[in-house]
Amino acid sequence: MAGRSFQHLLSFLMLLLLCAKPGLGNVTGCIERERQALLHFKRGLVDEFGLLSSWGDDNRDCCQWRGVQCSNQSGHIIMLHLPAPPNEEYGEFVIYQSLRGDISPSLLELEHLTHLDLSCNDFEERHIPPFLGSLSRMQYLNLSHAYFAQTVPTQLGNLSNLLSLDLSNNYLKFGNLEWLSRLSSLRHLDLSSVDLSKAIHWSQGSIPDTVGKMVLLSHLDLSFNQLQGSIPDTVRKMVLLSHLDLSVNQLQGSIPDTVGKMVLLSHLDLVVNQLQGSIPDTVGKMVLLSHLFLSYNQLQGSIPDTVGNMVLLSHLDLSSNQLRGSIPDTVGNMVLLSHLDLSRNQLQGSIPYTVGNMVSLENLYLSQNHLQGEIPKSLSNLCNLQALKLDRNNLSGQLAPDFVACANDTLKTLSLSDNQFNGSVPALIGFSSL
Ligand SMILES: *[C@@H]1O[C@H](CO)[C@@H](O)[C@H](O)[C@H]1NC(C)=O
Ligand SMILES: *[C@@H]1O[C@H](CO)[C@@H](O)[C@H](O)[C@H]1NC(C)=O
Ligand SMILES: *[C@@H]1O[C@H](CO)[C@@H](O)[C@H](O)[C@H]1NC(C)=O
Ligand SMILES: *[C@@H]1O[C@H](CO)[C@@H](O)[C@H](O)[C@H]1NC(C)=O
Ligand SMILES: *[C@@H]1O[C@H](CO)[C@@H](O)[C@H](O)[C@H]1NC(C)=O
Ligand SMILES: *[C@@H]1O[C@H](CO)[C@@H](O)[C@H](O)[C@H]1NC(C)=O
Ligand SMILES: *[C@@H]1O[C@H](CO)[C@@H](O)[C@H](O)[C@H]1NC(C)=O
Repeated sequence: MAGRSFQHLLSFLMLLLLCAKPGLGNVTGCIERERQALLHFKRGLVDEFGLLSSWGDDNRDCCQWRGVQCSNQSGHIIMLHLPAPPNEEYGEFVIYQSLRGDISPSLLELEHLTHLDLSCNDFEERHIPPFLGSLSRMQYLNLSHAYFAQTVPTQLGNLSNLLSLDLSNNYLKFGNLEWLSRLSSLRHLDLSSVDLSKAIHWSQGSIPDTVGKMVLLSHLDLSFNQLQGSIPDTVRKMVLLSHLDLSVNQLQGSIPDTVGKMVLLSHLDLVVNQLQGSIPDTVGKMVLLSHLFLSYNQLQGSIPDTVGNMVLLSHLDLSSNQLRGSIPDTVGNMVLLSHLDLSRNQLQGSIPYTVGNMVSLENLYLSQNHLQGEIPKSLSNLCNLQALKLDRNNLSGQLAPDFVACANDTLKTLSLSDNQFNGSVPALIGFSSL
């Protein structure tokens, strides 16, 4: 009884508190000084597509303007999210409804800004405004694909609260990269397609030590940069990395044994480089890996048995290398694998029976190797198969009538040419998608 009335008293007090405290409800409207700053910012821009038509006197509450978000507590603008929306798409090529023009320093009035996204707009080869480095609360800065050019201002190194920086796909120059090491909170760094090879102090155009020192990074993308040299050993210190993309560079040397220390890695992309040597056994220690892309290198040796330890792998692409030996039986442990590409290597031996254990397989590409023997009967277990390419090998024997039976609904592509099969071609009449 006493407990019950105490509870009543408590909830009464709570109610009193809630009602008495002004400002705990809605903060209405935006702060006039910040509204003026946005209007200045708009005046500097060319807005052909009317993206900022909600920005004006018709609606005085700038917190409701497109792309603007205010803090519920303080009313200050905390987010300016203005990526250009796509207009037309031609395959890979996209034309955006871009804003153009100048970025006004009036943005400096938005002292509470934590998120600024101006990606996919068209800043017509202007430089990134150095004053952005003074928006000290910034946590997320996305200037990707926005036709910025010239040297990146080192003032960006003052953004010590920055968690995510995306400057990818611009025409930038990097005077030096020391400022990067001052971004001590950074978790996500995308400098892909900015031509880092031209950065001064960049030891022989290679991956700089600065990057290796950013031990808190979880996402690092330096793809499409003409980087040379080898993958530095400092990378091993980046034990929190979950996503590493160094694809389409000119990296040489071998894949360091120390990749095995990056146990949190889920995505590793090293395609289109000049990497040599063999795939280290230690890859098997990256047990959280879901995507491993090593194609278009000059990797030699055999595929290590330890690949089978990467049981969470969904995409494995080792194609277009010089791998020899046979496909290890352990591949069958990768029951979540949906895409396996080992084509254009020099693999020998037969296709392991355990392939049939990879029940999630959608694409199995083994073309252009020296594989021998018969197609294993277990292939008929693969019910999700969409593409099976075994062409240009030395496979033999007869094709069983049910050799891909379970994939009769899903199989779209089947390529068996240039082998030594004999007998007749099985009827594939039920294969509705082929
Ligand atoms: C608070 O916000 C809600 C939802 O936006 C609105 O319906 C309500 O009228 C506002 N209250 C005040 C006092 O402005
Ligand atoms: C602020 O208010 C919006 C809309 O009422 C709500 O969706 C959002 O979660 C709130 N944010 C915080 C941090 O309370
Ligand atoms: C930056 O913006 C682009 C395009 O809007 C987007 O694809 C990308 O994921 C964003 N980067 C980050 C780190 O969020
Ligand atoms: C910002 O960085 C620049 C150069 O990197 C430096 O000269 C300047 O003092 C810094 N400003 C602040 C406010 O820290
Ligand atoms: C194909 O296999 C046969 C043995 O079954 C072997 O004699 C021949 O050299 C192989 N051809 C190629 C191109 O590997
Ligand atoms: C098919 O080739 C195998 C050897 O690979 C041979 O034993 C068998 O007789 C051949 N069958 C036909 C129908 O030619
Ligand atoms: C595929 O095979 C299954 C079992 O053999 C059968 O029930 C189903 O009708 C087949 N689908 C087509 C499209 O032929």
